[in-house]
Amino acid sequence: MRGRRIRILAAGAALCAGVAGACRGRQEERTVELHVGVTYYNQSDTFLNELIGCFKDELVKLEDSGFETALTVRDAAGAKRTQDDQVQELIDAGCNILCVNLVDRADPSEIIDLAREKDIPIIFFNREPVAEDMMQWEKLYYVGADAEQSGMMQGSLAADLIRCDEHVDRNQDGKIQYVVLEGEAGHQDAIIRTESAVDTLKSNGIVLEKLSCGIANWNRAQAKNRMMQMIGQYRNQIELVLANNDDMALGALDAYEELNYQGSALPVFFGIDGTDEGLKAVREHRMHGTVYNDKEGQAAAMAELAAALICGKEPVEMPFENEKYIYLPYYKVPGDSGLPENRNP
Ligand code: GAL
Ligand code: CA
Repeated sequence: MRGRRIRILAAGAALCAGVAGACRGRQEERTVELHVGVTYYNQSDTFLNELIGCFKDELVKLEDSGFETALTVRDAAGAKRTQDDQVQELIDAGCNILCVNLVDRADPSEIIDLAREKDIPIIFFNREPVAEDMMQWEKLYYVGADAEQSGMMQGSLAADLIRCDEHVDRNQDGKIQYVVLEGEAGHQDAIIRTESAVDTLKSNGIVLEKLSCGIANWNRAQAKNRMMQMIGQYRNQIELVLANNDDMALGALDAYEELNYQGSALPVFFGIDGTDEGLKAVREHRMHGTVYNDKEGQAAAMAELAAALICGKEPVEMPFENEKYIYLPYYKVPGDSGLPENRNP
């Protein structure tokens, strides 16, 4: 079996009093084995790679809590069939918790059946299954974030800038000509982010004129292509680029760079995620704001939930909605600071 495997032998059991300790019955040397199998939709996704990096760190932290952890990660490369096979493979390899980032968020039944047959809980993350599927079994959970909140924050960051900088309206017609770069069709974070960003701008009194929109599947290279086409069509009319994630905002910047647009000839760009590259672009004032998708918080919630579930404990103290869902808040990253607002480091 390929893939990275992290193995930690836990000695102390201090923190386990709450979790692993409860599994052990007696507070002795026994450790609790937690073997997590992760499969995610595509290894080319920047945000997910960063999130999974954080999750690895969280599992290492469980070392202090009396757990012996192992992690196996699989890339489904955008293919549902591959992902279904990977789930079988992870189960055969002895994983006792599955963390699944669905390729097809509308079709998790096969994965749920495989897990249920062996009584292995599933924590879905980032790509939210539809509500009816989440009801298929009681050991299904979801960790993610609220798409509407991220769109509202993006819209409000853009509105703040437009209100205080009259140069954003470059042709001074009292309207902001904008384009949108959207994530995958059918993804809970794509349409909702766009709608709530646009609604928020409007409710802040900004008059908008939509020039175009293009789907770029969260991907920087695809966004660059779409943006090249839009610039070809609208030349210097575009004043605002709203992208459903940072990688697509960066792809838009790549297009302008390649065409040698500079300074006041550029529109303003807004993303979502706060990836390493995205935050860097905000700090360098190339991007004008982003919204922090709390990968550390999501990773910590996944690890805590996994630890509780492996002990057969009801994770009652976690902030559930409808008993199965954990949504971590987003944070605004305005252009002037380049740092997530109100978030503890
Ligand atoms: C979104 C994130 C995108 C992409 C997508 C994949 O939440 O903002 O960058 O990672 O999930 O499902
Ligand atoms: Ca204008």
